[in-house]
Amino acid sequence: MEIVVVPEYAALSREGAARLAAVIRQAAPDAEGRVGPSDGRERAAGGHCVLGLATGGTPIGVYRELVRLHRQEGLDLSHVTTFNLDEYCGLPPDHPQSYHTYMRRHLFNHVDLDPHRARLPDGMAEDPAAECACYEAAIAQSGGMDILLLGVGTNGHIGFNEPGTRFDSRTHCVELAEKTRLANARFFPPGEAVPRRAITMGIATILAARQILLLATGAQKAEAIVRAALGPITPDCPASVLQRHPRVTLLLDQEAASQLPKRAASLPG
Ligand code: PGA
Repeated sequence: MEIVVVPEYAALSREGAARLAAVIRQAAPDAEGRVGPSDGRERAAGGHCVLGLATGGTPIGVYRELVRLHRQEGLDLSHVTTFNLDEYCGLPPDHPQSYHTYMRRHLFNHVDLDPHRARLPDGMAEDPAAECACYEAAIAQSGGMDILLLGVGTNGHIGFNEPGTRFDSRTHCVELAEKTRLANARFFPPGEAVPRRAITMGIATILAARQILLLATGAQKAEAIVRAALGPITPDCPASVLQRHPRVTLLLDQEAASQLPKRAASLPG
């Protein structure tokens, strides 16, 4: 596990976007249609790139920086497919607090992504179990995620995989933990309830990404980070399973890293 600590949110956003942009650029065909170079772990050159994306407060700066890279430095996203981690059940895609709306507002409306290749689970599906299976199959058919952006909950959740979620879970419907609903209430107008259910990629879906980039800021995430990085690997802290993945980066501000021993926070690996 690589741990990168930066001074503050702006630096974290720049570094996060730079890492996504590197994966996007690496997959982009050159003028002669060639793709490369490959580090051997990437899929065979296919000229397209698959990103897993997160919502929440933390990645907003990364999306802002990606939009800037697109507008000012010509970052081309036309060959990119995206899959979001999760979506609330019962919110239509145009609901102001849906993750569909979030993604349009912060990224999709401002870059050259093909809207048909920018996917989120359908929280309005009549048959949520079928939707979960379909979403999982679509990720597999795309060739799998080259890089997945993650946040982490104060309770150690990743996506909406709350403590207790099985490590072999695939995309599934969940009941949200009260702690999570409380944390997310800040995104909803006063008096409007946070949905109780969501569809989320499972832990096994997340671990299948070729590379994982987890962002965390603020002292309220420090305990979850130390458990994720150094604690026992246990479903009680879903993020701890990331210790099993061969290519994970925790990108942290100093407050989120504040409970890590100094050596762990400064040395990659
Ligand atoms: P946040 O959410 O970025 O809004 O802190 C992260 C999460 O709950 O996964």
